[in-house]
Amino acid sequence: MSAHQVTVRSPAKINLGLSVGPPRPDGFHPLATVYQAVALYDDVTATLRDDAEITVEVLGDFAADVPTDSSNLAVRAARTLQTEYDVEEGVDLTIRKTIPVAGGMAGGSTDAAATLVACNRLWGLGLAQPELERIAADLGSDVPFCLVGHTALGRGRGELVTEVMSRGTFHWVFAIAEGGLSTPAVYQELDRLRPLRRVEPPEVHPELLTALLSGSAAALAVALSNDMQAAALSLRPELADTLQFGLDQGALAAMISGSGPTCLFLAGDSRRAVDLAVELAESGLCRMVRQAEGPVPGARILPSSVSR
Ligand code: C5P
Repeated sequence: MSAHQVTVRSPAKINLGLSVGPPRPDGFHPLATVYQAVALYDDVTATLRDDAEITVEVLGDFAADVPTDSSNLAVRAARTLQTEYDVEEGVDLTIRKTIPVAGGMAGGSTDAAATLVACNRLWGLGLAQPELERIAADLGSDVPFCLVGHTALGRGRGELVTEVMSRGTFHWVFAIAEGGLSTPAVYQELDRLRPLRRVEPPEVHPELLTALLSGSAAALAVALSNDMQAAALSLRPELADTLQFGLDQGALAAMISGSGPTCLFLAGDSRRAVDLAVELAESGLCRMVRQAEGPVPGARILPSSVSR
């Protein structure tokens, strides 16, 4: 069924474990990662156009950092669907951002995932989830996970996603840094720091999966890991002060989110997360602070937003 307008809400991701192997012949790095979707959202509103144009407008905290030309990943997502399925209509996209840009939280990828879900409905394509995931994988390594959400294992270059069991809710605090980090630059730095012949194939640590099943924040805290952290810290050494500050304030764990530069902290409960967020905000160590719980679902249509 088609619609005139629809809004899709799509979450940020974090990597609870991120194990990176040596680069493949195509330049991508094989990953074994455990993703979690957290309740920090971008909203993408798609409005039908009679002509074939695709436009994008970006609003919110990080709007100035997002390109609005054809390099925008949401525009590419809409264009891909339009071309593959011979759609004659176009779409006006409005992205309301609260997820940092180039922050290691899949902000661009989640906007692309939201756009796939929105245009699928807008244009009445009726594509099932596996078909959307196939298209998502071509758009970027994190895009399929943003469709699926919750907690999931990512293999391949991150695009092969299978859900994993997780009990309860975890409370996260994010210190969002000034400026972003380029993901390819952080992978390059990782390759520079590690003698390639000593790099093992990527693997998920069993303790992480056990901790997720237990629902214990204390168990999860000691099972978190990120191979990209050393590379992000090498490019942005001052982030180590932010991580240490959070630990000093009682965070159970502190880690770089994905390729950075966002720092993430695990709190024991929601009250401690609020306290930590206040301390970080007052520290002057970061651009802004956000709190969010996880896991949450992937890109979803807001039912009240659909107009015909
Ligand atoms: O897949 P995505 O477009 O998000 O990747 C952006 C860049 O990050 C790639 O062009 C590549 O340089 C790097 N990358 C990588 N290995 C991965 C994922 C991304 O080297 N598994």
